[in-house]
Amino acid sequence: MPLLSVEDLRIAFHGRDRVVEAVKGVSFTLEAGRTLAIVGESGSGKSVTALSLTRLLPDPPTCRVSGAIRYGDREVLGLDRRGLQALRGKEIAYIFQEPSSSLNPVFTVGDQIAEAIRLHLPEVKDVRGRVVEALRQVGIADPERRHAAYPHELSGGMQQRVMIAMALACRPRILVADEPTTALDVTIQKQIIDLLRDLRASAGMSVILITHNFGIVQGFADEVAVMYRGQIVENGPTEEVLRHPRHPYTRALIGCIPRLGVRQDRLATIDHAAIAREMAAGA
Ligand SMILES: Nc1ncnc2c1ncn2[C@@H]1O[C@H](COP(=O)(O)OP(=O)(O)O)[C@@H](O)[C@H]1O
Ligand SMILES: [Mg+2]
Repeated sequence: MPLLSVEDLRIAFHGRDRVVEAVKGVSFTLEAGRTLAIVGESGSGKSVTALSLTRLLPDPPTCRVSGAIRYGDREVLGLDRRGLQALRGKEIAYIFQEPSSSLNPVFTVGDQIAEAIRLHLPEVKDVRGRVVEALRQVGIADPERRHAAYPHELSGGMQQRVMIAMALACRPRILVADEPTTALDVTIQKQIIDLLRDLRASAGMSVILITHNFGIVQGFADEVAVMYRGQIVENGPTEEVLRHPRHPYTRALIGCIPRLGVRQDRLATIDHAAIAREMAAGA
């Protein structure tokens, strides 16, 4: 049985005079210890899919979610507030694109990790010890001193390491990493991906990596699902999809893999009209 299974997920935002169908019937599974990448350009529905896994989206009527999200024997869409609290952070944890906006500027990084531990794992006695251990695990040198630093005293890469420490301090079974390296310099991107690879192995954790960049998927994800305008248009083992992409959108994304050492912020070269023509022609 997969650890997580999502079936026919639909997410719609109801505005005053229009409805945005952000996700239109997405299905995927995640096995224990495996890594799934969800790849697609900005606006394709990746983040809202990720947030729906622990129901971090606005409540109805603003946002309506349907389908099935099964985590072990729990149906996430049927959980009450307490059920969701038991899931968030402890079972499924997140890291996001902008570590600086996820960290609170007025508390030390150690205090913020400690708070996450107290919230999710009240049984832990030596909270400070767990904080120092978490900082050490993510490669922060001199954690006994660094835990007293404020976020602004750390670089973007170090801040992302702190976010990873906070996510992993509660030993979740699934880490959802939503564009974890997009805001970072290319050399730091690689360090963070390498760190996630190490931590995933040592913790035996599953990972959902969300990115617009096929380049970081290769060699990191076991499976890949390509999202386009709210739907998964292609999925399969990463190497297979990279070698034999069947969908024109996947081919376009692979064509945009940034060359080594060249930072790319957006997929400027995707020709949507051409993709639409190919899709209409039954590609
Ligand atoms: N809180 C919200 N209210 C209204 N629309 C939203 C909200 N969050 C996301 N959307 C819309 O849902 C779609 C998918 O967004 P998102 O999941 O953030 O895309 P991605 O992560 O792939 O860039 C977009 O059209 C976006 O404008
Ligand atoms: Mg996003």
